[in-house]
Amino acid sequence: MSNLKSIRIPKPTRYQNAAIEFYIGLTGGSPYLHYGYWEEQPKSDDELTISKFRVAQEAYAAHLLSFIPAATKTILDVGCGIGGNAQYLLARGFIVEGLAPDTFQQEKFIKNTNNKALFHLTRFEDFQRSHSYDLVLFSESSQYIATDDLARGSARLLESGGYLLLCDMLRTNAEYKEGMFSNCHVVSELHAALTQAGFNLVKTEDISKQIAPSLDLYLYNFRTFGLTTIKYIGDLLAIAVPPLHALLSRLLGRTFKKLVTEGLEARSIFDRHLCYQTQLWQLGVCEIVE
Ligand SMILES: C[S@@+](CC[C@H](N)C(=O)[O-])C[C@H]1O[C@@H](n2cnc3c(N)ncnc32)[C@H](O)[C@@H]1O
Repeated sequence: MSNLKSIRIPKPTRYQNAAIEFYIGLTGGSPYLHYGYWEEQPKSDDELTISKFRVAQEAYAAHLLSFIPAATKTILDVGCGIGGNAQYLLARGFIVEGLAPDTFQQEKFIKNTNNKALFHLTRFEDFQRSHSYDLVLFSESSQYIATDDLARGSARLLESGGYLLLCDMLRTNAEYKEGMFSNCHVVSELHAALTQAGFNLVKTEDISKQIAPSLDLYLYNFRTFGLTTIKYIGDLLAIAVPPLHALLSRLLGRTFKKLVTEGLEARSIFDRHLCYQTQLWQLGVCEIVE
């Protein structure tokens, strides 16, 4: 079901792929790239574990499923990542196609879906429609696509009455414009673009509380293992190759400190400026004028 073709891999994508590889290693092979949905709130830091995170990721897929209207058969999984959601939906009888602009994810997607889902190696903005879908899914991928492209592009892929399901981090504060989550769409701007393209909001749920423990898990590990490991590597470098340590400290010291400070504030930035929502939209049913 794959349509493997070669594509030049830009540097940012290579960084992203290195991060995905690292993440897969840390999570013990998770096929999902999303935050997960914590049905039970952890009572202490001791409950912020990778195994609970993996359970939350399965629950997130189930949460998506609970938003899919009953008559849905075909789904385009936009920004499908490495195939976790597609695998989950295929197992429940849907016909799924995945789309992402990255050969690394393509390879993992094909493996995780057992080659049972067609993969489109392209950006959503460049995707050429060959047929329509019952539902277009954006699971934590809407933030990478401009609101107008997302809204108009989805409308092109659906018939009247078709659905768009989106689950992602969004900005509640339009003035938050710089920093780690600033690429997320502003709730009201996304709403306006979708309405403009002919969509009606059917159902929405704020799941900020259910994704937040994943931020806490990240912070907990960053504070304990992350920073300790980085400091250890720095100390080793200072002993083994002092000139290189001095050079790196001079060149990267300030940027590094800024990244660490922001990383440590991730949860409070989220609480102050963002939310995480699931939204089901339906493309307006066109009236046929005789
Ligand atoms: C955070 S991951 C989410 C992956 C998956 N949907 C999941 O929930 O596990 C974001 C995904 O969006 C994809 N993406 C980024 N920019 C895109 C674009 N312009 N068009 C389509 N997909 C894009 C990435 O390659 C990646 O697959």
